[in-house]
Amino acid sequence: MEHFSAIRSLCRIGLENGDGRFRQQVERLRDRLKKAGDARDAQTLTDLLNAVESEGDLVPSSVEVSRSLVTGDELTANVHPPTDRETSVPLAEIVLRPGEGRPDPIYDETLSLALAGLATEWQRTDALRAMGVEPSYSSLFYGPPGTGKTLTAFMLAARLDLPVVNARIDGLVSSFLGTTARNIANLFDFANRYRCVLILDEFDALAKMRDDPHELGELKRVVNTLLQNLDARAGRGLTIAITNHDGLLDPAVWRRFQNHIRIGMPDAQTRLTMLRSFLASLDLGDDVLKILCYVAGARSGADLRTFADSLKRSLALSGEEPSPAAVAAATRGLLPRMGVDSKEMEPARLLVSDESGFIGSVLHADLGIRQDTLAQMFECSQSKISRASSDWESRERDARAEVSDGQ
Ligand SMILES: Nc1ncnc2c1ncn2[C@@H]1O[C@H](COP(=O)(O)OP(=O)(O)OP(=O)(O)O)[C@@H](O)[C@H]1O
Ligand SMILES: [Mg+2]
Repeated sequence: MEHFSAIRSLCRIGLENGDGRFRQQVERLRDRLKKAGDARDAQTLTDLLNAVESEGDLVPSSVEVSRSLVTGDELTANVHPPTDRETSVPLAEIVLRPGEGRPDPIYDETLSLALAGLATEWQRTDALRAMGVEPSYSSLFYGPPGTGKTLTAFMLAARLDLPVVNARIDGLVSSFLGTTARNIANLFDFANRYRCVLILDEFDALAKMRDDPHELGELKRVVNTLLQNLDARAGRGLTIAITNHDGLLDPAVWRRFQNHIRIGMPDAQTRLTMLRSFLASLDLGDDVLKILCYVAGARSGADLRTFADSLKRSLALSGEEPSPAAVAAATRGLLPRMGVDSKEMEPARLLVSDESGFIGSVLHADLGIRQDTLAQMFECSQSKISRASSDWESRERDARAEVSDGQ
């Protein structure tokens, strides 16, 4: 339908006022579109009707406030991102529903508080302005690979009901002199024209230009363009940059972001919560989950997701019910593919090659695991479990004696 994006914006503003007659008219328009065979636009209006209803239930003013924070036209499926002039490759991907198909991220308490604080700041702009301060418009997420940085940026946008303009910086860096700076300027112009969260992913790709002496002049120009554009974007929309290598960033660029949020490796408690969520469909007992967590070791959320998915695949193919014994056997089969030779992977190594040692180490790792869970997992008698426990104790005693002999 022609001009549908403008109609959608009008509907949204009208619906937010909560007038029942207006709502009825939007529902009639939706029904007519459906009748006329325009299923996609009809669905957009249904989504809008539902969204305004649920926002009203949750935080009455959240949409109003984020509207004053982020300006511009509505992004729709008909809007195309800018492209690199030489290669015609798009400079960004537009994601209209950033929450769709993505799991809720899981964090430790400190990080949850930091992120909730950020979202509140963006939703309660009025309270901030009443105190004479502006909310922060730009954030830098940094931390090791696979910890959920990209997921977090998308879910924050979803929470604010904003689409995402997602730019991978390595896609902006062009081998043609002068083109990178122009690409950056075009990207920001585009993002500023629409209501959106601009995500600059793999942000450190810019810093890599420093490795090439021929690129140094270009890098300076690019960094200047970036700084100017970041400043100019304040007041138009939110920007989230993401990097794995914060140390590579130019200090001037680092300083330009108002928030620096480290998304680090999950602690043991958070890893357990992740596995509980990733494996919820198997309905495993807490003891089994704790053992899986112990075996998986200090891994990132992305690695734990892969581990959980592989486990589910393996159980599905075996055709067995996810009993403790089936889970133990499937896990043992997966571990050789996950690299079990590093020191932190000692529990995994034991599980693969020394079952009695593994049982002993679990019982002495302060996990609070009941002996009968281990007996079920390894299909063995209680007395074998007790023997494994005392064997482990004497192994530990011998190891300690060896250390003190050597000193
Ligand atoms: N904290 C988390 N909570 C829930 N799932 C997570 C978390 N971290 C990672 N995952 C899972 O791993 C996937 C990949 O995470 P994501 O791409 O966001 O990581 P990243 O930090 O951006 O990694 P990279 O630095 O390699 O780009 C997610 O889609 C999700 O399934
Ligand atoms: Mg990422």
